[in-house]
Amino acid sequence: MPVVSTKEILADAFSKRYGVAAFNIVNDLTLEAVISAAVELRAPLIVQTSVKTVKAAGVDAIYALFRAEAERVDVPVALHLDHCPDRAVLSACLKRGWNSVLFDGSQLPSVEECQRQTIEVVAEARTYGANVEGEIEGIKGVEDGVGSDDEADIYSLETAVGFIRATGVDIFAPAIGNAHGVYKSAPVLNAQRVSDIVAQVPLPICLHGGTGLSAAQFDDLISRGCAKVNISTALKIAYMTAHKDFFQQKPTNTDPPTLMKFVRERVRQMALEHIRAFHSDGKAA
Ligand code: 13P
Repeated sequence: MPVVSTKEILADAFSKRYGVAAFNIVNDLTLEAVISAAVELRAPLIVQTSVKTVKAAGVDAIYALFRAEAERVDVPVALHLDHCPDRAVLSACLKRGWNSVLFDGSQLPSVEECQRQTIEVVAEARTYGANVEGEIEGIKGVEDGVGSDDEADIYSLETAVGFIRATGVDIFAPAIGNAHGVYKSAPVLNAQRVSDIVAQVPLPICLHGGTGLSAAQFDDLISRGCAKVNISTALKIAYMTAHKDFFQQKPTNTDPPTLMKFVRERVRQMALEHIRAFHSDGKAA
């Protein structure tokens, strides 16, 4: 199946109330591992890149890897740029063919300025047929050098809905008590906020900070409209601990393909677990 737009992938998930996993891949191995999990479960998938990954690997190299993997599978896949406050990086990814971008204007001095720039980003994305995720409140936690550990200001429902309507974003990422990274205490989530937004503007909501949430939390939030579920830290943990475990188990091994096979399988298992959790109806099984 060819690459499918993020909007199209999420429209189906939003209407049928299941979640699409959006994994932050870090290289070719993790890209192939998460796509392979989606293929096994017959589930659509969003492959995400942080700005850090884009800068480390390069726009052309990531795009080529993505296309090579995506074109040989038969489930819908899209390429998305995660939290990007940097308009130059955002433009480069759009130009190269990313299907969607998250313009992260949450650190701008005002919500009005965030809205003004988001309108520009949406217009730019449309010229490439791409989609935009909007964000006005910082999601707590620093991820790949973007964000803050400070508690973000939460805007009123009226402001959030006004932003969505004025900008025409395709996906919205509200702060609901979620956080990037490993949760330091059990997260208390304002799930009602998702329902309140969706009741006024029926668009797919992105659930950030997916690592560490419970199956019940996923079920509840997805049923309210969180069609895109972001997972980054769980992938990093699977990837890093696999390397450590490999060398603990085989301290004298010097064969890279054996290591890569071991790591890939750990990342794939992590992806399988999450994708299954986002289909409480058992559709992806
Ligand atoms: P986690 O790192 O908590 O999985 O969050 C991922 C995320 O929201 C990426 O934007």
